[in-house]
Amino acid sequence: MVTQQAGTAKIAIEPGSVQETLIIPLYGRKLCAEVFPRLYNDTSAAELCARLDYDFSGLDRQAKSTFWRFGALEAAMRQLDMEWEIRDYLAAHPQAAVVNMGCGLDQTPRRCDNGTCLMYNVDMPNIIDARAELLPEVAREHNIACDLNDARWMDEVDGSGGAIFFAAGVFHYFTFAQAQALVSGLAERFGGCRIVFDTIGKLGRRLMRSTFKSFGMENYDECLCVEDVSELRDWVPGARVTSRGYMLGYYPMDDPAVTGLHRFLARLCDRRVKMQIVRIDTVG
Ligand SMILES: C[S@@+](CC[C@H](N)C(=O)[O-])C[C@H]1O[C@@H](n2cnc3c(N)ncnc32)[C@H](O)[C@@H]1O
Repeated sequence: MVTQQAGTAKIAIEPGSVQETLIIPLYGRKLCAEVFPRLYNDTSAAELCARLDYDFSGLDRQAKSTFWRFGALEAAMRQLDMEWEIRDYLAAHPQAAVVNMGCGLDQTPRRCDNGTCLMYNVDMPNIIDARAELLPEVAREHNIACDLNDARWMDEVDGSGGAIFFAAGVFHYFTFAQAQALVSGLAERFGGCRIVFDTIGKLGRRLMRSTFKSFGMENYDECLCVEDVSELRDWVPGARVTSRGYMLGYYPMDDPAVTGLHRFLARLCDRRVKMQIVRIDTVG
């Protein structure tokens, strides 16, 4: 849960809620900008962390460990992958809607703003309230407070110039059926849209068990996991479904602070944990 503390400018995020999951990628991006500045130099996550009333001390203590630094790389690489897909889509559809599904406090659409696209951020109402305080809407940007599983949010998106929908770190919390319903609903309404999201395989889901449990999710066995992208081919008739490695599928992680162990883990994540960026290009 997110609440604003009376009399302070800080926003409180209550531990143990699914919404708290936004802290991990946000902190990861902050850490990545500090440790791997050549790879990722966005300092906005650090500015946002400073405005949250959240106990970061546990994360700060672990920040020097190889594994946490690798976690930071994961958060940043995912954002860079999403940016690649958005820029690629905008090159052909400069007035498209760029829709950040389960946005948390992420600002990827703004980083890709070409001056003509529309930007939408969708998340649960308490996250959108916090967002409105911390990141007031800019020109052509709209926040939508809604559960993604309630298709009414789609009514607010103007996809007349095309649309790219992306979800970073969100579909792990959906069941296979929920993810399928969301994707096929988008494809039905927004012909020619692109839908991009990250997935993990069975091993990845097992490794994430304790994370799921800590957010009170007992049904994690039903959560979406994808071993091979061909499993999604019948989600949207006629669509082109492809995937790339999450860690190394777009960029070579070029930074002197990236160690041999980080590279080994990156290959392991892409190949064994089946961390992928899935892209679905629907027919127009
Ligand atoms: C791991 S965080 C990722 C946040 C952001 N995409 C990022 O990369 O920083 C997951 C986000 O998805 C949101 N979320 C999860 N389930 C949702 C749902 N059913 N409807 C709307 N938002 C949801 C959470 O509130 C949270 O902000």
